[in-house]
Amino acid sequence: MLNTRRRVSIDESCCEIFGKVLLSGEHSVVYGEPALVAGVNRSMTVTIGPSGKYSLQSDVEDRMGLVYYALELAGVNPDRCGVTVESDVSPGLGSSAAVCAGVIRAAREFSERPVGKDELFRLAWECEKKAHGNSSGVDPAAVVYGGLIWYIRNKERESLSLTHRYCFLLVDSGLPEESTKEMVGLVRTGYTLHNKRYKRILNRMGEVTKRFKQRLLDGKSVRGVVNENGLLLEELGVVGDRARRLSERFREIGCGVKITGAGGMKSGSGRLLVFHSELQRIKEDIDGWGMDVFEIIIGGSG
Ligand code: PMV
Repeated sequence: MLNTRRRVSIDESCCEIFGKVLLSGEHSVVYGEPALVAGVNRSMTVTIGPSGKYSLQSDVEDRMGLVYYALELAGVNPDRCGVTVESDVSPGLGSSAAVCAGVIRAAREFSERPVGKDELFRLAWECEKKAHGNSSGVDPAAVVYGGLIWYIRNKERESLSLTHRYCFLLVDSGLPEESTKEMVGLVRTGYTLHNKRYKRILNRMGEVTKRFKQRLLDGKSVRGVVNENGLLLEELGVVGDRARRLSERFREIGCGVKITGAGGMKSGSGRLLVFHSELQRIKEDIDGWGMDVFEIIIGGSG
């Protein structure tokens, strides 16, 4: 989601862009199944100003040279730009897509050729493909259009508006050692070696995502669908031991829980999405667990 655009000084451009959370459909969306994704209230600010040579000051690691590539895609000479990225968007909450979209947007402002959302989505997706090869485009769609989106790769993008208000917790299970590219590659290897089994899991994920959408639209509890999705992601082999144990503890106290994003096997698996209809009580229950937790709210617009 894009927010403020301002000129910081006469020759600088700045844009704020929000992160995202995958409610359902990570990984299966790469294989043509639907995903549900929502904007979150964590943002990144990109500022671009003139410079004698390319410089980058960033809170986000840019191992793949995404910022430089985004400037090129925006048609701006990177060697004339100083870029600053200040980020509150942690990995798994769409940070690479936010970098791509934020830099392109700010660069186009900087060169006085503002970009519309559809073109920005196309360019940000192009940039995201550099980050992890086989990107489904769901993250760039989420950070560019914002709100709650139903997304099918190359087919559908629908903005959903919910009358019912849903609260979720995002709980840190530890930073994944693997990149999104590695996790997408891991699933691809499984899909190639055990095609029938993987196809079945991915299809079931698609079915769960469809039911998830209907339950959101009907204002019903999503505990069951979150859990089904979480267990399928475990079966797919993208959830490490620590996140599995933590998920089990949440299920024991009656929550729906799943990883959100690409996951991770070697150490952490990123953020867990936790649902309970009495979330305030759950927050008190888990107070002593010593975890980094924040709350997100989706829907409730009607
Ligand atoms: O990079 P993450 O953690 O937001 O995950 C992206 C979602 C995947 O389905 C794993 C990849 C994709 O491009 O859809």
